[in-house]
Amino acid sequence: MNHILAVSQFERPVIDEILARSEQMRQVAEAGGDQRLAGKILATIFYEPSTRTRLSFESAMFRVGGQVISAEMAAETSSAAKGESIQDTVRIVQSYAHAIVIRHPQGGAANIAASVADVPIINAGDGAREHPTQALLDIYTIKQELGRVDDLTIALVGDLRYGRAARSLAMLLTKTTGTRLLLVSPPEIRMADDVLAALSEAGLDYQVEEDLAAALSQSDIVYMTRVQKERFPDLDSYQAMQGAYQFTAEHMGHLPAGAVLMHPLPRVDEIDPAIDSDPRAAYFRQAQNGVYVRMALLDMLLGRRGLVA
Ligand code: NCD
Repeated sequence: MNHILAVSQFERPVIDEILARSEQMRQVAEAGGDQRLAGKILATIFYEPSTRTRLSFESAMFRVGGQVISAEMAAETSSAAKGESIQDTVRIVQSYAHAIVIRHPQGGAANIAASVADVPIINAGDGAREHPTQALLDIYTIKQELGRVDDLTIALVGDLRYGRAARSLAMLLTKTTGTRLLLVSPPEIRMADDVLAALSEAGLDYQVEEDLAAALSQSDIVYMTRVQKERFPDLDSYQAMQGAYQFTAEHMGHLPAGAVLMHPLPRVDEIDPAIDSDPRAAYFRQAQNGVYVRMALLDMLLGRRGLVA
């Protein structure tokens, strides 16, 4: 059984295969889609808010001929509100669908789902832990924008402690070579030790930094992130971090000409909308790439070939 639970499951040949297939899926989408997953049903169960992840999975499924059933506010509108466990929900939903995309506030929730599932489980974000399909679309975007995923200096900026997108991307980058990571955050929300240990173990060159301006001029990619309000123990500790980094036109002026600015979105005030029209602002292209990468992943999970390259 193939699930997508964490980026650590992807070795480099599979990552390269996903990148190549995502590129093919861009062409499929641009040609109006196809019917390769006709007859397949995808269930999306989201216990936390989402715009891009859920809708791009659903759009991806439709574009390859599949269909979708969805519980978009599952905490309130599914039987979870009556006290049903994740396990029981999955046991039932898998009899309605061929794969399940799940987002849940609890770290490890997707693993719990997978432990009872007979169909593929896709982790669409489990608390402050992982968001593997986001990391895959991020690395696809890096390839699209810069032509390569190796030998790059990448600054991850903002809430690296609670931000699952930054955590998953950092860990996925351990599968690249010649990467230098600049981990830019206030000390209170710095990258957690489990990720730092994984980076060290992989021999990835990283540097913990507080100064965005210092990171800018060295970076090929600047990856801004939202301070994850919903993960803080109280409002005061959130407010102390909110606005820690705001990327403005002045920062853009110091970003190297060939570099690119990314953000998993949603943004609050991390990026001034005034710079959206700069060609180096890649975050809307990044969000669109989510459709192609998720088409590729659904095809690899539910199509004839399976996930392993
Ligand atoms: C991210 C998430 O949910 O972790 N959003 C997304 O999927 N693009 C980032 C965030 O919410 O800040």
